[in-house]
Amino acid sequence: MPVPAASKIAAALAPYRWPEAAVQTITDIVRGEKFAGVLDVNHVKKLVTQSGQELPAVMLHLTAVAALYALPPISDFFVGAVARGKSGKLYFGCNMEFDGLPLSFCSHAEQNATVNAWVHGETRILFLAVNAAPCGYCRQYLYEISPADYLPIVILASRKAPYVTMPLTELLPLAFGPSDLGVDRTLLEPRPKHLKVSSDDPVVEAALAAADLSYAPYTKSYSGLALDLNAGPIIAGPLSENAAYNPSYSPLHAALFLMNIAGHEYDDIGQAVLVEAPKPLISQLEVSNTILRTVAPDVTLEYVTARYRAGGGYGVGEDGVLVDNADYDNGEDDDDLDDLDDLEVGELKDLPGLDEIDPDLKPPRR
Ligand code: THU
Ligand code: ZN
Repeated sequence: MPVPAASKIAAALAPYRWPEAAVQTITDIVRGEKFAGVLDVNHVKKLVTQSGQELPAVMLHLTAVAALYALPPISDFFVGAVARGKSGKLYFGCNMEFDGLPLSFCSHAEQNATVNAWVHGETRILFLAVNAAPCGYCRQYLYEISPADYLPIVILASRKAPYVTMPLTELLPLAFGPSDLGVDRTLLEPRPKHLKVSSDDPVVEAALAAADLSYAPYTKSYSGLALDLNAGPIIAGPLSENAAYNPSYSPLHAALFLMNIAGHEYDDIGQAVLVEAPKPLISQLEVSNTILRTVAPDVTLEYVTARYRAGGGYGVGEDGVLVDNADYDNGEDDDDLDDLDDLEVGELKDLPGLDEIDPDLKPPRR
């Protein structure tokens, strides 16, 4: 999707009557050179101050801007989502549909906002705003992030209230989740698999890094897909599995969303590489080929099988298949990142409206 015109951004925000300065700020951010669907903490603070709105409202209003990136050729229904990560940054998501392909191939705004936060290093999503009530499928997808946690969802509600906030656990009572399948990890927890490839092609390396990030506790079929954009960056997406299986999300979906939200179009795709763990139980190859043929018919998907690096705390079976890396710890310290995140969140705590729904300040309501 090309970067939205200033007039479209202003029109999207018109119902919320933001002061001109705030509209100008978000326009400058979105139309800025390197915007990829991420708002940093200073941007967020500026928008809260200039709009005179509480943070949840600002996020909800920004879903209208995120929705400008939606690609819904079938429904013509534009959904936008904005996730707030633990770092205090905001992440856009939008829905994407694929002409001529089954409806089950489309990706939802909430999934894409989650993936956006995840690939940018967030280990927690504090809350999520959506311009339409999240569907059952998204609730199930989101349950993979924080099964036992309080994940508030901000939804545009009625004429009476500007928005309603509801924890995911209330939106999805008696949920089926990872623990039903004996998995005690969550989607955003960093767990490198230590995959390697012998290529030094940067597109292969990007796909490898995405495979290393991927979340596949149910099949261990780690998978990442990278797109090399003509006269543009390499953009890679990880696989994310779901306990209920169907809401799982392919690495190509992730990569296509990430390129879309960075202002690129399908015609920009020059090369595509899929990297998967050795002998995967399931493969993303066929589904990736099917979708890629519709969005970039001239591009042939390259397939690379990764190997596991020797050593580490996981077991590799005789056949080279990873047996279990659930408890694998690479000994690296995540503390630095956490410290930084806490600092930024601390600054944000002064913002109006945040205290009301920040899960750090509120006990889980199960
Ligand atoms: N959609 C979302 O993006 N999120 C939801 O939770 C509701 C539905 C999208 C999917 C499809 O592209 C369109 O809206 C119509 O269902
Ligand atoms: Zn949905």
